[in-house]
Amino acid sequence: MHKTRMVQKIFLVSVEERLKAIGEAGYNTFLLKNKDIFLDMLTDSGVNAMSDNQFAGMLRADDSYAGSMTFYEFADAVKDVLGYNHVMNTHQGRAAEHLLAKIFVKPSYVVPTNYHFTTTKGHIELLGGTVLEIYYDDALQTESKNPFKGNMDPQKLKNVIKKYGREKIAFVRMEATTNLIGGQPFSMANLKEIREICNENKLIMVIDGSLISENAYLIMQREKGYQGKTVAEIVREMCSIPDLYYMSARKNASVRGGLIATNNKELFDKIRPWLPVYEGFYTYGGMSMREIGALAVGIREMVDPTVAGCSVEQVKYFVNRLAETGVPVVTPPGGLACHLDAMKFLPHIPQNQYPAGALSAAVYIVSGIRSMERGTVSMDRDKEGKEVMADVELTRIAVPRRVYSMSHIEFAIDRINWLLKHKALVKGLKFVDEPPVLRFFGGRLEPIGDWGRNLTEIFKKEMDNY
Ligand code: F0G
Repeated sequence: MHKTRMVQKIFLVSVEERLKAIGEAGYNTFLLKNKDIFLDMLTDSGVNAMSDNQFAGMLRADDSYAGSMTFYEFADAVKDVLGYNHVMNTHQGRAAEHLLAKIFVKPSYVVPTNYHFTTTKGHIELLGGTVLEIYYDDALQTESKNPFKGNMDPQKLKNVIKKYGREKIAFVRMEATTNLIGGQPFSMANLKEIREICNENKLIMVIDGSLISENAYLIMQREKGYQGKTVAEIVREMCSIPDLYYMSARKNASVRGGLIATNNKELFDKIRPWLPVYEGFYTYGGMSMREIGALAVGIREMVDPTVAGCSVEQVKYFVNRLAETGVPVVTPPGGLACHLDAMKFLPHIPQNQYPAGALSAAVYIVSGIRSMERGTVSMDRDKEGKEVMADVELTRIAVPRRVYSMSHIEFAIDRINWLLKHKALVKGLKFVDEPPVLRFFGGRLEPIGDWGRNLTEIFKKEMDNY
């Protein structure tokens, strides 16, 4: 329910150029240059199409260090849409995570979560804390019919409280659509059940709402009792449950920024003094005022069902079409991306040779599509320097909001099907340069055997040069 009024030219460079580019990028799609990329499906973060009204919001922004009226417009939008009286901006989601970890996490503390996100875990561990994944056992089954694989297991949470004691629990974190296990939502019933346990044990509950629109949209479609409700009503209900809410605004709100919001003034006052130290003054928090102008609009637009559902509906089509032809994908389809199950796609590659990283590089070679490794490369080594195997090896093909058309999705489906037929050619990867933290961003790898070349040769024979 939108039309395109500005376009950007993109290029599909030849397969030889793509092979050269991925080699220069150390077989790490993060290190590719945009000029070599046809469809950038690395992420849905900071790359969505903004609306005309968001651009207008940017132009109208009241630029000032302190007291900008644009900040107050944004705070009004947060109050109206999310229901929070207190809000601060941060320069992006991980900055919110940094502040929350700094205030609440101490050495030996734990953070139970329905599933971690890379930056969340990074901040908690840097402060000496440990993340505990408290999902239901079937959450890691990539092929499933469970509509709410993002649920937290209440019994496991009770066990954690018993084992560590409530005083060691920094907070309980619920991520709205668990990004790393396939954008899978939690149900409202589960959120309420977890809240009850938090109440009984006087624990702080935090929602990471970076993908809350999609979680709400999927609740609307899948949860009994919610079919008649609007996305706006469901988001409002979700937001009424935790003590603290934060989000990366780069996803659902389609701008570059973040926020922390709450109705608990005491908690807010604990966090806010640190805002000018790490981010910026209270009324901008590290964001440019123009982005806050676009965010004030984006917060209102993100509960429009045609915005909340635009990526979900494309992902559903993408996933179902691939599943029909036997491509191993995460089901049911979730928010943000189509996820290939690399351990099933490339069963001949052992996990310590990074199947999801290899698949991501192979997808690029055969299509010019940039996806992201979400597997063992995305896990850092433990304190002893040992590899930590990821629970799942996923190649995430993100669907930025309002950016690509169905014909782009068709192109992706076609190339992934071609790759499946030639999967035996794809082999593993090994690190040649490995950063100590969040290694997936800057790490450089090398193919084991010259499989990139072999794949390119067959591709040229069957598909011409492109
Ligand atoms: N929480 C979740 C659930 C996220 O998906 C992200 C970012 C963050 C926090 C951090 O926010 O990027 O604004 O600092 N996810 C991006 C992705 C990077 O590609 O999935 P940020």
